[in-house]
Amino acid sequence: MNREQTLREMGLGPLWKLRAAPQADEVTAPVAAPMAAQTTAPAVDAPAAITPPPAAGMGWDELAATVAACRQCRLCEARKQAVLGVGDRNADWLFVGEGPGADEDEKGEPFVGQAGKLLDSMLAAIDLKRGNDVYIGNAVKCRPPNNRTPEPEETAACWPYLERQIELLQPKLIIALGRPAAQSLLQTEVKIGASRGKLHRYKDIPVVVTYHPAYLLRNLPDKALAWEDLVFMRRTMRELKAG
Ligand code: URA
Repeated sequence: MNREQTLREMGLGPLWKLRAAPQADEVTAPVAAPMAAQTTAPAVDAPAAITPPPAAGMGWDELAATVAACRQCRLCEARKQAVLGVGDRNADWLFVGEGPGADEDEKGEPFVGQAGKLLDSMLAAIDLKRGNDVYIGNAVKCRPPNNRTPEPEETAACWPYLERQIELLQPKLIIALGRPAAQSLLQTEVKIGASRGKLHRYKDIPVVVTYHPAYLLRNLPDKALAWEDLVFMRRTMRELKAG
């Protein structure tokens, strides 16, 4: 792990850059919910200068073809294939991970390795199933070499694809699995321990932050906290559906 990665793991930023200055309605803001503690977004400076790929207005087929051919960042260099996402395109639930690993790069589907098995178990624990009212995507669509954490400029380059997926899906609830997914969605520095158990917001869509399954495989005691998060997200969805 290099110095920058070590600092990021320790939460010693600021290494996160905004994609662009947010519109007033895009600033991370808590959703009013009686059971949720609320958060506000700390100021993050210096918009990153990137030219987003033109995903706006694309349908699923065009988006899939564009992602498959994408060369917007260096992650394209070592990938076998880009991994757009999988699941029910009418899903109420959107789970967002970090990026494909070796198994996903091979198969072209998110979360098919060990972390994916745990994710499937987590879904089953709240009566959900991959592909059934659930869509699974990632913050970056190409495998970072050696499964390293994606760099902020890589998640920024890939953001328009996730943004378009969210527009097409219109999920009721987004679950951010781990820090890169949470930071990509919420556009702010995130520490999972401090962000879990609260409702955040991407535009008008509630977002729940929880641990990445790969982290849980390495930190078994935190599975108890992940269970609390599962209960919280299930309750949140029930409340959203009840209107
Ligand atoms: N980890 C992720 O974040 N995404 C995957 O698709 C697989 C492992």
